[in-house]
Amino acid sequence: MSKALSAPEGVTWKSRWTFILAATGSAVGLGNIWKFPYITGEYGGGAFVLVYLACILMIGIPVMIAEVMLGRAGRSDPADSMAKLAKESGRSRYWGVIGGVGMLAGLLIMMFYSVVAGWALEYVSQSIGGTYSNLDPAQIESNFSGLLASNSQQLLWHSVFCVLTAGVVAAGVTQGIGKAVDILMPMLFFFLLLLVGYSAVNGDFEAGLHFMFDTDFSRLNGEAILVAMGHAFFTLSLGMGAIMAYGAYFPGHSSIGKTVMTIAALDTIIALLAGMAMFPLVFANDLTPGQGPGLMFVTLPIAFSNMSGGIFFGTLFFTLVSIAALSSSISLIEPGVAWLEKHGVKRPVSTFGLAGIAWLGGIASIHYESVFNALDYLTANVMLPLGGLLIAVFVGWLMPSDRVLDETGILHAKVFKAWRFLLRYIAPLGIIAVFLHSLGLLGWLMRH
Ligand code: PFF
Repeated sequence: MSKALSAPEGVTWKSRWTFILAATGSAVGLGNIWKFPYITGEYGGGAFVLVYLACILMIGIPVMIAEVMLGRAGRSDPADSMAKLAKESGRSRYWGVIGGVGMLAGLLIMMFYSVVAGWALEYVSQSIGGTYSNLDPAQIESNFSGLLASNSQQLLWHSVFCVLTAGVVAAGVTQGIGKAVDILMPMLFFFLLLLVGYSAVNGDFEAGLHFMFDTDFSRLNGEAILVAMGHAFFTLSLGMGAIMAYGAYFPGHSSIGKTVMTIAALDTIIALLAGMAMFPLVFANDLTPGQGPGLMFVTLPIAFSNMSGGIFFGTLFFTLVSIAALSSSISLIEPGVAWLEKHGVKRPVSTFGLAGIAWLGGIASIHYESVFNALDYLTANVMLPLGGLLIAVFVGWLMPSDRVLDETGILHAKVFKAWRFLLRYIAPLGIIAVFLHSLGLLGWLMRH
């Protein structure tokens, strides 16, 4: 048995539970609270949610187990881990390129992620100042458009967020983040529950639930399916090495399966709760669920403006959203930093260098909506699923099965078999089918 117990430079998380919290911190972020509700709104609700859940279960979870395993077995940055394991398996070291492209994807995501996190920071300040608490729903909507029209305001908060992210990563991840997520993730969960309660009492809860869970397949098209699959990767932080980089610090040799199920379950529950907190308010206030990226920044302020204690709750909520974004953004640049560090660049230098590049890209996202949208679309719907596809092929088909069995630590033979089946067939074929479908090719092939 090849028990690789030492991490890069001997660093490991304090326990399996700290890994779960850090990985959950990476997974739970703007994807759950901001993006999931608004894309569900844009793509028509129930049927979209169902496809998303199927993607999490049949593609996301198997790929996540593979990524954690690759990180723990390789004990290095994603590029090096994959190159090393490829060589050991008698394959080309060029498989390491997947890790390299993943680092790039992380930077590209950061270029719009940080802008949205900046909006959340602006809303912390607006909540404290009571800016939206006396406005009516229409004014709250135009208050958000006002922010989007102000490049300087967005630049300020985007810069603050980049510096915060770089500060944490430069200081090292294990101590600061391990401790922070420990306290903050349960708090986030608690406040979401409170908001769902508020929404149930004051919103049109029934309409919200119908919208999220009634499956009307006529509203589903190729693009919606692609977006649902892309989001499964985005929300679980898969396909770009973030989870692999964290897996490199996974202590011991315990089974990866249950750990991953816990992370995926937490992530999914939080996304569904966020939807259940927002849609009832959307319907109760005659807003449209398909209004796009502004959804969270319009519906929640409306709720808070009606709520006694709204200033307090609003401040707390947007603070927690900012923190959830921060515990994700650090994992966007950590893989690149780990790689540079391995190549002799000091951590603070590499961190501020990479954050600086992301900051510049973010300025482009602020000035051009098309850049913002293109970065979002390219990373979530193309780069992450493609990375996931190659990881599934690599672990499912190219690594020796006994090595894989040993490294995942999955003891139950049936579970291992089921996972491997999903990884070898369902995940790759599913991803390819969705790509073809969204390009319109599947329909063409079936007709000919
Ligand atoms: N999972 C994060 C979210 O849902 O907000 C976003 C993310 C973080 C994507 C890290 C990819 C990643 F590597």
